[in-house]
Amino acid sequence: MALRRIRIEQTGTREAFYQFARLPFQVYAGRDAWWPPDVHNEIELLAGRARITAHLDLCPFLAWSDDRLVARVSAVVNYRYNDHWNEKLGQLIHFEALPDETDAVAAMFDEALIWLTRRGMKAARSGFAAFLDYPYAIDNYGALPSFLLRGNPDYYHLYLKNAGFMTEKGQVDYTAPLTPDLLERYRRMIEAARAAGVAIRSWRDYGFLAAIDVWTDVTNAAFARHWGWNPISHDEVRPMLTPLQATPVADLSMIAEIDRAPVGAVFSTPDLSGMLAMVRPGVKLAPERGGARGALINIGVLEAARARGVARAMAAQSYLAMARNHLRFAGYTLVLDDNWPSRRTAESLGARVTGNFVTYRRDL
Ligand SMILES: CC(C)(COP(=O)(O)OP(=O)(O)OC[C@H]1O[C@@H](n2cnc3c(N)ncnc32)[C@H](O)[C@@H]1OP(=O)(O)O)[C@@H](O)C(=O)NCCC(=O)NCCS
Repeated sequence: MALRRIRIEQTGTREAFYQFARLPFQVYAGRDAWWPPDVHNEIELLAGRARITAHLDLCPFLAWSDDRLVARVSAVVNYRYNDHWNEKLGQLIHFEALPDETDAVAAMFDEALIWLTRRGMKAARSGFAAFLDYPYAIDNYGALPSFLLRGNPDYYHLYLKNAGFMTEKGQVDYTAPLTPDLLERYRRMIEAARAAGVAIRSWRDYGFLAAIDVWTDVTNAAFARHWGWNPISHDEVRPMLTPLQATPVADLSMIAEIDRAPVGAVFSTPDLSGMLAMVRPGVKLAPERGGARGALINIGVLEAARARGVARAMAAQSYLAMARNHLRFAGYTLVLDDNWPSRRTAESLGARVTGNFVTYRRDL
């Protein structure tokens, strides 16, 4: 077999950013349904114009094989993450690749890891990176993943393991069927919390803009020691969430208070597959995958208010609102395998694991 001519490009031009952002359209072209990237936003990030880039040093790499683009990855130093955890951890985000390109992918990873080493990083992670990337799927290959999550091909694991990466963390995704029995259970959970002095309101009732700031504060406090997290600021969250004010997010997301002080927050979305997924004409999605699936994306409770049913009741109220919005399934998205308080919350809501994911790491 003739050797392929491999070239790794460290890109900086707008044209190269565009090619980088479009590669998933080749990788996932054969799928019945997938979530395409937001090309414009990705280019803004690569070009250093996104607000989050103030905290990052980021370098995109492209792998060319015989002048055909076959893989991409971005090496990232997230200073805010490293300051928070007192680590020297680099991240490889945006990884996508075509099949049967082992040499090109290996060469690209080599270059990206050298770039991280030169910046003093002691280890590299690929998979979960707060607000930047999501972990790699290890099941449901070919199916539409839950909103935000990766639906990568199975061969990605081979590329990552060949590059010396090992599984660092596992995460699970849950789905609850919004059956009449479960909806009744949710009403009882909310009633029990109310009797215990917990007041739960949707972001719409709370005041959407005020709720955004509460969500930021509660999430920063609740997730302070949560693996993978880094603190976020009001200034970056406000422009990200304010455009959702007139959408069902306002009815599905919740704030919990005790004695008028916020103690918990939930961020949930409606089914966005009709608006954002690419679905081949004639393909009908299973309702639990798309079309009738709301998603609880994030839940946090301040430490002082934990183990009193606050999370359960906030999620229950979010799920009841989803049912009123004609959704038949509810996601509880992305929980660490060993986060038993969160897993117990999901399971007490009648949710079951429907997807598994991993994040990789290697020493440098
Ligand atoms: C996960 C979290 C939201 C749970 O909030 P909470 O208000 O304490 O949870 P609840 O009191 O509603 O309890 C819900 C279930 O979890 C169980 N639970 C709560 N704390 C627990 C703990 N420390 N260990 C084991 N189970 C626990 C409860 O017993 C209950 O299960 P049950 O109905 O079977 O009895 C909270 O611990 C938190 O904010 N953690 C940090 C952020 C985080 O991990 N968020 C989720 C990311 S996926």
